[in-house]
Amino acid sequence: MNLLYLCFFNLLERSMKRIRLKDKEFELFIPEKEVLAAIERIAGEIKEDMKDKNPLFVGVLNGAFMFIADLMRMLDGSYELTFARYSSYKGTASTGTIQEILPLHPTDVEGRTVVLLEDIVDSGFTMSYVMNKLREQGAAEVKLATMLFKPAALKCDLKPDYIGIKIPNEFIVGYGLDYDEMGRAYRDIYKIVNN
Ligand code: IMP
Ligand code: MG
Repeated sequence: MNLLYLCFFNLLERSMKRIRLKDKEFELFIPEKEVLAAIERIAGEIKEDMKDKNPLFVGVLNGAFMFIADLMRMLDGSYELTFARYSSYKGTASTGTIQEILPLHPTDVEGRTVVLLEDIVDSGFTMSYVMNKLREQGAAEVKLATMLFKPAALKCDLKPDYIGIKIPNEFIVGYGLDYDEMGRAYRDIYKIVNN
């Protein structure tokens, strides 16, 4: 009975917690505490796998900024971190054309174990492009840690090494992710409400 009440209030909370960004409405999807628990789990996996290595973490801006900060804090060690920025999304859809806005310098990655920190893998075009490029530039090993993963949207031969939460193919915002640059600062994750 108690469990029933809990499920009911959980559903009620989600449907009542709504935000509006420009022309679109979103409802609560993943509360912050679930996001943080997932990051804590992958931080443990990464820490274990990297214990005998000297990895270069590459935070992928802008969407991953909260994930990068929370994950690095949980890793709590003497790790090297740099940033890169790519763009492929317009509005609520992936364009498939990757723009390198802040690229990585080849000398930075040569011979290194590179761990990419990404907010979400959708079609996978962005990360496939970046991972191939890093390999061409001489990285010894390229790993991918993604906070969120939409397996049903994947259009590339790509397998993230560390996955926070798998989600259905829906457009989401919050916890760093945006809709037309809006919504990045919300602590919880919201999904689009299809009217
Ligand atoms: P991909 O190249 O299609 O995998 O798209 C990757 C990028 O698109 C991600 O790094 C995000 O910045 C953005 N993106 C993908 N799905 C969403 C979403 O549901 N909301 C907001 N941004 C998204
Ligand atoms: Mg991103």
